[in-house]
Amino acid sequence: MTLSEKISKLKQEKDVVILAHYYVDGEVQDVADFVGDSYALAKKAALVDQQNILFAGVSFMGESAKLLNPSKHVYMVDETAGCGMADMINAEQVRKVRAQYPEAAVVCYVNSSAEVKAESDVCVTSSNAVKVVGGMKEKQIYFIPDSHLAHFVAAALPEKEFIYHNGYCPIHQMIDEASLLKAKEAHPKALVLSHPECADDILKHSDYIGSTADIITFARNNEAEEYIVATETGVFHQLKKENPNKEFYPVNDCQVCHDMKKVTLEKIENILENLDAQNEIILEDQIMEQAKNPLEQMLVLAK
Ligand code: 13P
Ligand code: SF4
Repeated sequence: MTLSEKISKLKQEKDVVILAHYYVDGEVQDVADFVGDSYALAKKAALVDQQNILFAGVSFMGESAKLLNPSKHVYMVDETAGCGMADMINAEQVRKVRAQYPEAAVVCYVNSSAEVKAESDVCVTSSNAVKVVGGMKEKQIYFIPDSHLAHFVAAALPEKEFIYHNGYCPIHQMIDEASLLKAKEAHPKALVLSHPECADDILKHSDYIGSTADIITFARNNEAEEYIVATETGVFHQLKKENPNKEFYPVNDCQVCHDMKKVTLEKIENILENLDAQNEIILEDQIMEQAKNPLEQMLVLAK
């Protein structure tokens, strides 16, 4: 029996659903029951029938699944898989800025800890941020932690007033303009598809800007044969699977989120064998209570 077959069998025996993000390795995406961007994963997590969710992604994604599904057991494939951007802000910092700007709504990118969500009014993901913030009554928006996504949303909503935090994704930050210009020169016919976590000097050269799932949808529906893709290279698996006759190029060789790559088939098999308490997401009751509100609010406003 192959490792993938063993995993399929164990999933059924143990009543487990595997949810995976597009940045994990292709072979992991292929054993998952559902693969998506952060928004699709949050929606899916709220709907699954199984008693156990095994999350092939990083901690903020597993925490969101737990917050939306308090009665279920949520396990991480690797409990040390975190997000460099999420670590760039803490609850105390949010409380300080909130006190300084009492009129502002705190809008929290889903790439954040449960403690930070607990201090926030609404969550957003890259695929719904413009819609959610655009639908809010408050004019002043304190957007945390990603400054690049915040500027992208601010440009789309000039009627709002933004207060920025200085967070960023360490992986998207390494996608640099010089490398992009070189890639464009090497592939002059290619369209540039970028994630809004990229800095403005990448976004300004882009033909399309969107979440991982939006980038995949764009490439599926577009007739161009070549694309330069400015996001983590895990998305190439789905892009190539759906478009075997199209070419996809990275901007440089830094587009790898090492936390996402901690998720392996061997670890999935091991966890399914034991459903180890060490890998289960457990959150304090008060954090659970407060942090689920902004996520639920997002699901309503993004509809
Ligand atoms: P998506 O919501 O686009 O999948 O992005 C998640 C993420 O972590 C990007 O770095
Ligand atoms: Fe976090 Fe960046 Fe990795 Fe996404 S790619 S999980 S934002 S560190």
